[in-house]
Amino acid sequence: MTDSKVTIQKIIQAKKKGRKLVMVTAYDYPFGLIADEAGVDMVLVGDSLAMVVLGLDSTVPVTMEMMIHHIKAVVRGCKRPIVVGDMPFMSYNTGIRDAVINAGRLMKEGGCDCVKLEGGVDFAQVVQAIVKAGIPVQGHVGLTPQTASALGGFKMQGKDATAARKIIDDVKALEAAGAFSIVAEAVPAPLGTLLAESVSVPIIGIGAGAGVDGQVLVTHDMIGLFDRFVPKFVKQYEKVRPLIIDAIKAYGQDVQASKFPAPEHSFGMSEEALAALKASLEEK
Ligand code: KIV
Repeated sequence: MTDSKVTIQKIIQAKKKGRKLVMVTAYDYPFGLIADEAGVDMVLVGDSLAMVVLGLDSTVPVTMEMMIHHIKAVVRGCKRPIVVGDMPFMSYNTGIRDAVINAGRLMKEGGCDCVKLEGGVDFAQVVQAIVKAGIPVQGHVGLTPQTASALGGFKMQGKDATAARKIIDDVKALEAAGAFSIVAEAVPAPLGTLLAESVSVPIIGIGAGAGVDGQVLVTHDMIGLFDRFVPKFVKQYEKVRPLIIDAIKAYGQDVQASKFPAPEHSFGMSEEALAALKASLEEK
């Protein structure tokens, strides 16, 4: 965590200095402000908004327009951390030109500092082209939710030596392509450590153990705002959902008992104006 404006260079330097990076998700202005005030390094406007904000079953339906809308709101709240805009499914999978145009849109229209996209060796050329266009890229390997059905579901990845080796090849290819950091999701902890040792750019883990260079969690999972399902790798630091429900119930009870609004929540009117109003009503 840091007090001054975070830069891509500072993110890369953090690994060299052995400082662990902190990243959370945000999808709107209030959570952008909260993440900024909490002092995190990076704020990811993740396509996980599909599930935790929009009530969808997967990230697949997320569009560029949805991402730009949410990125803009978060950027308004985040002055100090780096804002990472997640590239939605099919915004970079159809070719290098599409990928560069769409990464540019997230930055130009959304205002984020960099983009994130899922994939390793197969997307190295895409990453290289976006970086060449002047847009910093964060990679994402291991469990890649946009292609979870091709991976056999939302399962841990890199279980056996061959699969684990492939993920090491992925991070190396992403580093060579110019990615400034790489998210590693749902891989065995020993593999997480090996990934961090394999490249000089920071590996940001989510379900990748403690041996990586930083951590990311979905804020709505971590604070217990969204609890329809809680992945094994999530630690719930708070359970705010029942608190919010209790607050709304208390409000409902006050409304029904005419206890809300109290005088301090109401606007007054001068006796003179009220008397004149009543008199005018009697005249008719
Ligand atoms: O969309 C998202 O929130 C993510 C994180 C799980 C890393 O990609």
